[in-house]
Amino acid sequence: MDQLIQGVRILLNYNDITWENRLFLSSGTEQASVSTDRALTPYCSDAIVPRLPWRTLTSLEQKILFSSKLENLPSLYVNILNIPQNILCYLNELGNVENHNLLKDVLQKKRVRKGINLIQKYIETLRIQSAELSEYRIGWNAPKQMTVTVGSDNCRVGLHIDNQRGSSLHRISINLGSEPRYFLFINLSIDQLYRLVSETDGNVVSKTSGSSKICLAFMQLFPNYPVVKLRVNPGEAYIAPTEHITHDGCTEGTSSLDVFFTMRTIFDCQPRVQHSVVMSSRSPPLNP
Ligand SMILES: [Fe+2]
Repeated sequence: MDQLIQGVRILLNYNDITWENRLFLSSGTEQASVSTDRALTPYCSDAIVPRLPWRTLTSLEQKILFSSKLENLPSLYVNILNIPQNILCYLNELGNVENHNLLKDVLQKKRVRKGINLIQKYIETLRIQSAELSEYRIGWNAPKQMTVTVGSDNCRVGLHIDNQRGSSLHRISINLGSEPRYFLFINLSIDQLYRLVSETDGNVVSKTSGSSKICLAFMQLFPNYPVVKLRVNPGEAYIAPTEHITHDGCTEGTSSLDVFFTMRTIFDCQPRVQHSVVMSSRSPPLNP
């Protein structure tokens, strides 16, 4: 299986995003190779990563991936949005941090603390008020990494599903660095992965298999299924159901520290659906 099938979609519900050079597809997935670069955290032995090269999407693939209206449960959508400039102006210094040892000091500055406070207030306006809200976290990643998440064994886990014990919260992750970062994901929910794996080989997973085992089995059985690479520019955020889809962050092609703000809640995306968008292979949707 090497063609995208319809599943988790990108919801075009914020109208201030340009889509040119925004999305790419891998030619599948593969076992992560052992890096000889001592500066990078090594991969875990079972880690799977996107297989190069990246390519742009055909018009059919765009139609499969994009949605301009809310058709299913909100948990099956990925969003991207701009954080307002009147918040970002307090946080510019985070984009100039040269190494992670300096990050802690910058985060103590009054101006930066004010910006972080404003981000939390802004997220309050986006979330469903009855939903649980996690603690926020500000983290960093080294540049030039195909995938960034490091697990409890101090190795990079590769493409994965977050395990929050059945929570249905979505993650927002804001790019506070100075260069684009990327959100990698497979556009299929955990339920779809389970169905595809068990229909192909009934012995590999069971209903009680954890999400990690199901997502790993899918990538091993279907190594040609593409991974979506979504660019998130400085000052932009993605919102994604990271406890339901296979994903990771990516800092390929960058040369500076990746700094991000993240927290989890349920976002109210319904009122922001405004546009219907016509896709074409020659002209990706601009300013939908
Ligand atoms: Fe994750």
